Amino acid sequence: MEMLQITNLKKRFGDKEVLKGVTLAVPEGGVFGFIGKNGAGKTTTMKTVLGLLKPDEGTILVADEPVVYGQTATNRYIGYLPDVPEFYDFMTPSEYLTFCGEITGMDKKDIVTRREELLELVGLSGEKHRIKGFSRGMKQRLGIAQALLGRPKLLICDEPTSALDPVGRKEILDILQAVKEQTTVLFSTHILSDVERICTDIAFLHDGVVCMQGKLSEIKSGKRTEEYRIETEREADARTLAEKFSECALSGERQLLFREGKATIFELMRFLADKEIEIAGVERMEPSLESLFMEVVKK
Ligand SMILES: Nc1ncnc2c1ncn2[C@@H]1O[C@H](COP(=O)(O)OP(=O)(O)O)[C@@H](O)[C@H]1O
Ligand SMILES: [Mg+2]
Repeated sequence: MEMLQITNLKKRFGDKEVLKGVTLAVPEGGVFGFIGKNGAGKTTTMKTVLGLLKPDEGTILVADEPVVYGQTATNRYIGYLPDVPEFYDFMTPSEYLTFCGEITGMDKKDIVTRREELLELVGLSGEKHRIKGFSRGMKQRLGIAQALLGRPKLLICDEPTSALDPVGRKEILDILQAVKEQTTVLFSTHILSDVERICTDIAFLHDGVVCMQGKLSEIKSGKRTEEYRIETEREADARTLAEKFSECALSGERQLLFREGKATIFELMRFLADKEIEIAGVERMEPSLESLFMEVVKK
């Protein structure tokens, strides 16, 4: 089943058409990376999914139910972490989650169980300080716990890592990866390395449309690169190859990167065979997301 299906979504602000027919399917399970530059329309898309913005055209289904602008029925499936989450910062994390559980009508006993589970998950159990003094990373982690309180089928996080340092980013990515057992995760970002780290599926939003989407592994293996990593048994051989082929660059004592140019991989192989150079390994490199993105953006 598709957890979220967006079809031909259009949205303009004044004379600026931000979404020009976005079509996107988020399969159930896994971690979905919604990628786009600043201003591409990621937040606009997410707010439309939550029924907070009225689309000009198009349909959205959450767990096969249509989203209706201004109504919240489909939001019972969704946990949402906005790009700039706001809290009552005089509360402690435990008080805050209890409060959120109460206003959403959760059972008292369930609030306690779920609260403790989630504080543990996001590394805030035993945190007795008020939210006021929290770092951005701690606030994001608490925001994820809050979004997960009602056991949503779909967790939507709007740029959860963008304002964080590398350690804070890693903590968030680890949490998102861990929760995919409980819920489908959809997060937006412009940081491609975050996507490469944890996403199973991706969509690139560019120029108002989704210009590439699918399973990350399939997208990567579907694109061939002309780059190879070569490892020789002996150091001297690696140096010989680097001198002989301008396409070769040393990347370690016995390691080279070979990018096909005037010489192809076959010519390199022929040379290896002629000189009886012993090889420890040859591997074709996977394209980076960055290079794939640049390719579609240039078209
Ligand atoms: N309420 C609004 N009124 C006018 N323009 C808006 C509004 N919301 C967003 N925009 C514009 O729409 C574009 C997409 O914004 P946004 O969805 O926030 O992008 P992203 O989240 O990908 O950075 C931007 O150019 C932004 O200025
Ligand atoms: Mg945004």
